[in-house]
Parts: sequence; structure tokens; C-alpha cells
Amino acid sequence: MRLILLIVVVLPLVVERVTADRILSRRTRRELASPLHVGGIRDPHGSYCQRRGGCCPGRDDLCTVPYLDTICYCDLFCNRTVSDCCPDFWGHCLGVPPPLIDACERNGNRFFTGQTYKENCNLCTCGPSGRWDCEQNPCLVEPTIIHAVNRGNYGWKAANYSQFYGMTLAEGIRYRLGTQRPSSTIMNMNEIRVRTVLNDHLPRYFNSTEKWPGKIHEPLDQGNCAASWAFSTAAVASDRISIQSMGHMTPQLSPQNLISCDTRNQDGCAGGRVDGAWWFLRRRGVVTEDCYPYTPPHQTPAEVARCMMQSRSVGRGKRQATQHCPNTHNYRNDIYQSTPPYRLSSNEKEIMKEIMDNGPVQAIMEVHEDFFVYRSGIYKHTDVSFAKPPQYRKHGTHSVRIIGWGEDRDFNGTPRKFWIAANSWGKNWGENGYFRIARGDNECEIEAFVIGVWGRITMEDMHNHHHHRRRHI
Ligand SMILES: *[C@@H]1O[C@H](CO)[C@@H](O)[C@H](O)[C@H]1NC(C)=O
Ligand SMILES: *[C@@H]1O[C@H](CO)[C@@H](O)[C@H](O)[C@H]1NC(C)=O
Ligand SMILES: *[C@@H]1O[C@H](CO)[C@@H](O)[C@H](O)[C@H]1NC(C)=O
Repeated sequence: MRLILLIVVVLPLVVERVTADRILSRRTRRELASPLHVGGIRDPHGSYCQRRGGCCPGRDDLCTVPYLDTICYCDLFCNRTVSDCCPDFWGHCLGVPPPLIDACERNGNRFFTGQTYKENCNLCTCGPSGRWDCEQNPCLVEPTIIHAVNRGNYGWKAANYSQFYGMTLAEGIRYRLGTQRPSSTIMNMNEIRVRTVLNDHLPRYFNSTEKWPGKIHEPLDQGNCAASWAFSTAAVASDRISIQSMGHMTPQLSPQNLISCDTRNQDGCAGGRVDGAWWFLRRRGVVTEDCYPYTPPHQTPAEVARCMMQSRSVGRGKRQATQHCPNTHNYRNDIYQSTPPYRLSSNEKEIMKEIMDNGPVQAIMEVHEDFFVYRSGIYKHTDVSFAKPPQYRKHGTHSVRIIGWGEDRDFNGTPRKFWIAANSWGKNWGENGYFRIARGDNECEIEAFVIGVWGRITMEDMHNHHHHRRRHI
């Protein structure tokens, strides 16, 4: 009897003690726990306090709800500097928007840790301390460079191009150019000497498009494919064949044919050499753009497209296609070939003479960071990026087609000589796809390696093509 009484008296005491211990330890745990919302509120729209059925006044360590891999609280005490409130505590219990807990802000919107946005060419990530952490790549379109060029008296104007916006400078150099410097043996190749030009009359202005209307091809767009080696070669060969055949044939030769089929020591959309391209045009030949259309790479810019056109010899060095055009609308798969190319001297007058007599030439040039934003005027590489860190100054080798020249005066009346050249960045770039660049100073090394070529055209060809054309009309 006495024993039972004792138990009855002691038991509640023990139970009370245990509860107090548990609460104390839980409190300590709660207070020591790492804050719940480091790096932003996860599952910010989840329903927790609401699902629990309400909120608790003051401090109530039992007022919890499971939250992801832990628990969250719905008591007023949770709303401290170190918060362990459920995501919907503020909205559901206080009726106020949740505070910014280590979240990043941008244009009035809230982003959580790990979320990203792209600022021009740089990815910005919301960091754990609530601050944006942005990559620091130089971009292909740098607004500060555009402004500096347009404010200065550089003789040319710059513009933002949507097709370049968002790319890094390194990507521009990697995907928009694509001509490897000729090997030293080629570089040392003897220049052919065009007749002494001292006595020849060279006009102050010359434009192939005006001298040979309908025979000079419009600039194409290589897209994100570093194959200027194929584009400039095909363009010069197209113009030369058209001029030489006196308009009997005006093929726009296919850069894709070169990119996909001239693969020996060439890297397609990852760059190539013009000497290799000319070798291919001479020995294998290519079809027209209409027959073998250009398909710029979508996913990985360096992807290789299978060669869809072969040719075989039909004697006397001439070739014939052995496959149909890789398209459904055009059946004319004539193969066009060239003679061996010849290198001109770096003398400005000799280059001019060659263009005037025989048509556009191919030139290799160094492209610097400011060239991408060229809009109009006479380009010269500027010093506008010299105030920036060295990674903002980059250059790569490109090839273009020079079609003429001219001269104008700058703002103080000093004459400025220029070349008229065609690029392969589409017609919305520069002056309708063309650009003018300083002449006579080897600007960007444009006069250092210039190539001319002849199409391989016989009277028979001219006759055949003439007939074909007539039949089509
Ligand atoms: C809860 O936190 C919000 C935001 O920090 C603050 O404005 C509010 O006064 C706090 N409420 C309570 C009851 O502590
Ligand atoms: C440049 O063009 C892009 C895309 O067209 C645009 O989003 C960006 O704001 C422009 N930047 C400047 C500096 O004009
Ligand atoms: C070259 O001639 C074409 C055709 O007349 C013309 O559209 C173009 O503006 C000329 N280029 C220059 C730089 O004068």
C-alpha cells in the first residue's frame, strides 16, 4: 500500500522531468541548428503552416512541419535573425511577403541560390551570400568599345549586331573566322610579278561591281562556322569564272562542297587553309551553291557534315559529278574548276592592277576585337580596348575578297585610301556585307598575302553553258 502510494507520487514528477529534459534538448538543438534558408528559400511556394492547420503564438518548439530533409517552424519565434520559419510562414501567419533571405535581386525579381541569368556573354549565378556572381569574359559586342569608337575620330563607325551579341570574344575568334596562316613554304612562294605598273593608269576609284555588273557575287554568311577559307575561295573563284566567261557562266560556287569534301589537312568549320582549298578547286572542282547549299552547323559548331558530292575525271583534267545535287530542286551538277592560284606581291599598285584587269582577289587578314562591330567607314584597328585588361585584345586569321578601292578625305581634309572588300558575315554586317579598310599600310596584314586565280574555261564550256541557259529561258 505504501509502495503504491510512493509510485503514484513520484511518477508524475519523473514524467515532468523527462518532458522538461526533452524540451530543453530540443531547444538547444533548435538554437544551434544552422539557419534554414541559407542560399534562399527552397520550395518558396510550398504549403507548410497552412497544411499544418495554423500558426502558434510566442515560442512553441512543437509547432513544426516536415520540410524537405528537415523540419520548419510556424511559431512567432521562428521569425528571428536566424530564421527557421516554414516558407509560407510570412504569407500565411503574418500576411506579409517573405523577407529577402540570402536571395539575389534583379529588376525587382527574386532569384535563389544557383539560379542564373545571362548578361551579354556572361553567366551570372546567384551566390550563397545573396550576391550575383558573374563570369568576367570579354564579349564579342562590348558596349564600351562601340561607344568609344563612335565618340572618337577613327574614320569608321561601330554597331551592335544581334548575331554577335551574347558571344564571348574568344567564341567570335573561334567560330567566325577560320583561315589558318599559310605554311611558311607557301608564304615564301615566289610572288608573280605583274607587269611594271609604273606607267599604267590606275584610277582613284575602282569597283568590280560597276565594271562587271552581274558577275560579282554578293557576300554570304558563314554563321558560326570557322570556314572563311572556303567562303573566300569559293567567292573569288565564282567572280573570276563569271568575268572570264564573259557572263556565259555566273556560278555561285558552293562553300559547303569545300567544307564537307575538301577534308585532307582541312578542318571544315574549325578552320582550314586557302592553299588546300585552291588545290581542291583545281583537282576536284566544286558544284554551285544552288546545287550543294550551305547548311551552317546548329549544335556544335565543329560538327562535320558528310561529303555529298564526288567527281570523276573525264579526261583532259576535266571532271564530272558522280552524284546528284544534295537537294530536291536543282539537277545542274556541273563541276567548276580553277587553274593554280598565283600569289601577288604586297605592292598596293600591283594588287590594284590585278583587280582591275582580272577581277577580285583573295586576301588573308588579321581580325582584331574591334572589327566585329564595324558598321561603316574606313576601318583601321583602333586602340579603344588598350585601356582594358589584355584578355580584351585578341586576333585571329581570316580571309576575304577584295573587289576594288577608292579614296576619300577625313574630317581635316587628309586623303584616306581604302580597299573595298567583301566579308562572309552576311549582308546585314558592315556596308551591306562589304567593308572598307585602309589601303597602302598593310592594315591588319591585308596586303601581305594576296591571291589571284583563273577559272578553267574552254570555248566548249562557254558554248555548252550558253546553250543550257538558252534552253532554260
Ligand atoms: C518578422 O520578420 C519581418 C521581416 O524581417 C519583420 O518585418 C517583422 O517585424 C517580423 N515580425 C515579428 C513578429 O517578429
Ligand atoms: C545589342 O543587341 C542585343 C540583341 O539584339 C540587345 O539585347 C542588347 O541590349 C543590345 N546592346 C546594346 C548595348 O545596344
Ligand atoms: C560598288 O558598286 C556597287 C554597285 O554600283 C555599289 O552598290 C557599292 O556601293 C559600291 N561600293 C563602294 C564602296 O563604293
